[in-house]
Amino acid sequence: MKRLLIGVCLALALPALAQRDATIRIYPDQGTQQISKHLYGQFAEHLGTCIYGGLWVGPDSDIPNTDGYRKDVVEALKRLQIPNLRWPGGCFADEYHWMDGIGPRAERPKMVNTNWGGTIEDNSFGTHEFLNLCEIIGTEPYISANVGSGSVEEMAKWVEYVNSEGDSPMARLRRQNGRDKAWNVKFWGVGNESWGCGGSMRPEYYSDLYRRYATYCRNYDGKRLFKIASGASDYDYNWTEVLMQQVGGRMNGLSLHYYTVTGWSGSKGSATQFTPEDYYWTMGKCLEIETVIQKHCAIMDKYDPRKRIGLMLDEWGTWWDEEPGTINGHLYQQNTMRDAFVASLTFDVFHKYTDRLKMANIAQLANVLQAMILTNGDKMILTPTYYVFEMYKVHQDATFLPLDLICDKVKVRDDREVPMVSATASRDAQGTIHLSLSNVDLEKKQTVTIDLQHVSIKNVTGTILTSPSINDHNTFEAPDKVKPAAFKDAKIEKGVLKVTLPAQSIVTLAVK
Ligand code: AHR
Repeated sequence: MKRLLIGVCLALALPALAQRDATIRIYPDQGTQQISKHLYGQFAEHLGTCIYGGLWVGPDSDIPNTDGYRKDVVEALKRLQIPNLRWPGGCFADEYHWMDGIGPRAERPKMVNTNWGGTIEDNSFGTHEFLNLCEIIGTEPYISANVGSGSVEEMAKWVEYVNSEGDSPMARLRRQNGRDKAWNVKFWGVGNESWGCGGSMRPEYYSDLYRRYATYCRNYDGKRLFKIASGASDYDYNWTEVLMQQVGGRMNGLSLHYYTVTGWSGSKGSATQFTPEDYYWTMGKCLEIETVIQKHCAIMDKYDPRKRIGLMLDEWGTWWDEEPGTINGHLYQQNTMRDAFVASLTFDVFHKYTDRLKMANIAQLANVLQAMILTNGDKMILTPTYYVFEMYKVHQDATFLPLDLICDKVKVRDDREVPMVSATASRDAQGTIHLSLSNVDLEKKQTVTIDLQHVSIKNVTGTILTSPSINDHNTFEAPDKVKPAAFKDAKIEKGVLKVTLPAQSIVTLAVK
């Protein structure tokens, strides 16, 4: 903490105070954009125990399951109201041959998952298992297809297999495998990280490949596909520039990947053992996503001023060292209150760019990176990040309400300035205003005065996620250490909303 410098206004008075003050002015009449529910998308890759063990245990398992899907996990996923689920990768996508994952499970060929620890993949979770899961949890599938090592024909046939209602060869094969009705998958990714694990391509070459693969992905029975080109990593603005130039309107969406990683060489840092300074530094890195989004958007605006092409942030989240004692290459990490803040602050940024940002997928659903769910045998725990998704789901498809926020900032490592409060507001179809507030400060509570202008406030209810230490997390021994509770510290004073946020807390309010 010694190296933290208090920034901006109030600087002289602050160190002695046990609390800070912030003000928010919401503009209830200026909401023009809808927060796409697809910003709350998830990602499940054949990586470690995300699929096998996390979602799927097979019908013969002793772990309680329905047709092979874990009952506990399915119930937890239903609660989240996940709008879309991306599968099967990630890097795995560009080595995956979908035909190996259909037909009788015992006859499916095996492969080596070369990207992720050399694990043997038995293909028991394939197209039917994935798309049926999406139906069960009520989410839209997003299939990421193989461009790196797969053929145009293979991808074209996959689209036909899952989408053709007619008497086409692939529809017949699907019926032979027990599924009559087409699933009608709209979202298709044409490769993944084609600049890296997806084929180490240059953007010019990938642009041509995209055009070729996308040509043969047909719309069946009048249902239009939404085709997503493999996009840039973080700060690679040239990739976006070339794709916009060379592919343009042939794509419906262009992806982008941004991970909150605070160290690349050797160690990325422990998920649970970190200092307050590490925490603030992480918040700074997480918030840098805003500049990255702005810069990619500016390039897209140049070529597509009418914003027809969506920016799809289809991988984001924290990336720490793997938990000691877990399998190398399986990316299993714990999830603390720090990760919860990365989620809340990231959503607060996402909501501001809804005119261009149409989808986002956190990496990943279970047991990998910034997971919602961790499993161990028949045990399951929900992470602090899960609870942020649950608290924020009220913003899905709601109207974004602009706001001004004035708060203190801290400077960390003489470099990044981190605001001590983050906020976002929206109005849902019933007229309720939902306001999410994060008090990033680890020590000081925060009094927030919120001006909703002409809105007459009758009733406020809320939920809070907080814990005594920022390092706190749920374990299989203490599964409920971090969990949400009812929030009572919101008061209406002369038409103005006054909220007292405890240190390191995330709150969502419903204002009627
Ligand atoms: O999410 C883990 C990996 O990160 C994905 O497979 C890849 O696309 C990215 O590099």
